[in-house]
Amino acid sequence: MYVHNYDTVIIGSGLAGLCAALEAKNAGTVAVLAKLYPTRCHSTAAQGGIAAALGNEEPDSPEWHFYDTVKGSDFLGDQDAIEVMCEDAIRTVVELEHMGVPFSRIPEGKIAQRRFGGHTREFGAAPVRRACYSADRTGHAIVFALYEQCMLKGVEFFSEFHVLDIVVEEGRCQGVLAMEIKTGKLHAFQAKATLVASGGYGRVFKTTSNALASTGDCLGMLFNRGVPLQDMEFFQFHPTGIYGLGILITEGARGEGGVLRNSRGERFMERYAPTIKDLAPRDMVSRAILTEIKEGRGIDGKDYVYLDLTHVPRKNIEERLPEISSFCKIYLGIDPAEEPIPVLPTAHYAMGGIPTDVDGRVLRDEKGETIEGLYAAGECACVSVHGANRLGCNSLLDTVVFGRRAGRAINKELKGLRQGNIKKEIVNQVFEEIDRLLNSKGKEKIGKIRKQLQQKMMEHCSVFRTEEHLRMLLNELKNIKERYRDIGLKDTSRAFNTELLEAIELGHLITISEVIAESALRRTESRGAHYREDFPKRDDENWLKHTLAFKKNGSIEFAYKPVRITKFQPEERKY
Ligand code: FUM
Repeated sequence: MYVHNYDTVIIGSGLAGLCAALEAKNAGTVAVLAKLYPTRCHSTAAQGGIAAALGNEEPDSPEWHFYDTVKGSDFLGDQDAIEVMCEDAIRTVVELEHMGVPFSRIPEGKIAQRRFGGHTREFGAAPVRRACYSADRTGHAIVFALYEQCMLKGVEFFSEFHVLDIVVEEGRCQGVLAMEIKTGKLHAFQAKATLVASGGYGRVFKTTSNALASTGDCLGMLFNRGVPLQDMEFFQFHPTGIYGLGILITEGARGEGGVLRNSRGERFMERYAPTIKDLAPRDMVSRAILTEIKEGRGIDGKDYVYLDLTHVPRKNIEERLPEISSFCKIYLGIDPAEEPIPVLPTAHYAMGGIPTDVDGRVLRDEKGETIEGLYAAGECACVSVHGANRLGCNSLLDTVVFGRRAGRAINKELKGLRQGNIKKEIVNQVFEEIDRLLNSKGKEKIGKIRKQLQQKMMEHCSVFRTEEHLRMLLNELKNIKERYRDIGLKDTSRAFNTELLEAIELGHLITISEVIAESALRRTESRGAHYREDFPKRDDENWLKHTLAFKKNGSIEFAYKPVRITKFQPEERKY
């Protein structure tokens, strides 16, 4: 067992973690733990852009951005946080540019901007060019620039370290226990401040745009330690995943003029969102696609529709969408400039997560009390700027704005924080759990259980939900938990034991699925990405509030807290 002492420990090397690290390094030592090699983090998969009302290509304003984000969130986003994000967006993009991010340009040299779902001018009048992009590899470009900055600044990286526990004890966070994957050795990272920036958990679903590593481990760990999880019923399905694979085709493809078509060749979004059509928010477009399919207008009667780019100039596709073009060629054998792309919604983004304030401090309850020394930012966190549905390009913005703010908060608060101290008995518990898993001789195989879980989540808890299906899912989850208790591992070695790591991840996937299903069952309304066929209307009187799920005495208990509304009163969401 190796013991390290740092001022700040950050879990996750995605954009939120890197931004926080750059700030926290101004106040002391920083260690970043990454489950993968740092530049393989899932932020690199973000394609289409980062939102900022620069107004480089047409008039725009942070206030319009603020309004669009509130409306996109179906009025569940906290407006003080949304305002902070939209007001800070312009500074953020300029700072990224100065750090070396190679944004695409317009001929006069300014950062190019394109249209994206739900982003409009003049409070919904028409789509606006607000997404700053680096072709369709925007996340990749930003990650590499920030990683370089971190290296320059002396941030220390622990690559391929799998976090096993975040030790929250005696009312504060003491640090992190992690396994070095290549040796299987345990390491304790004791810290004054611990920041969780571990990303999303799309792997609870069968069809997802998320990387294999997006299993929500840290959310599971914190939940087990009594930290609440907020708004977990809201999970976004991106409308355009490659059919059968779930790989993302950026919304930037529609921003560049692509349209969705059904089996009759109709541009069906004209019926669902007459003003902004294919650039409506993702929750609406995903439901529209599945409605077309349900009503028999899927292509050749099958369960997909077409994303048609054949009218978009080839030059634009090659210059602005090279990544998705190559995906189409590699995975489908088609050239998107010549043939339409078969698409279906794919699980993409978790609006819910670890509750925080606008400076990344983790909240312990619905009253807003914080946990000393514990911070979170990025997709794993819920500030909440996305409410019930996130707008495209607001996630990169969220990671960079709130990662930086959390790092600055740590910077300010570090002097008042004590060095963490992880007790021997906690270390022993983790050792015992690893030994228990390594020696498990049950009959069940991890891969099979995970497949069943992902399949059932998809069947019963994806774009459309009902009480009946959610109850069926909860029954399935009971059975899945039973099976999980009876797993057997074949690989008993410690070095690079991926079977062991997958067993640990599966435990967290099950926990998170249960929280999603229970939260979704309770919310008897439809809002944003949570669509209840048995309660198809939004119900502001009873449900304009955030869900907090807690683990208490082995079961899940709920509390609720009001949405913070500052400027825009809830209205009917028309596009
Ligand atoms: O469609 C996309 O490029 C995804 C962007 C996002 O999720 O923000």
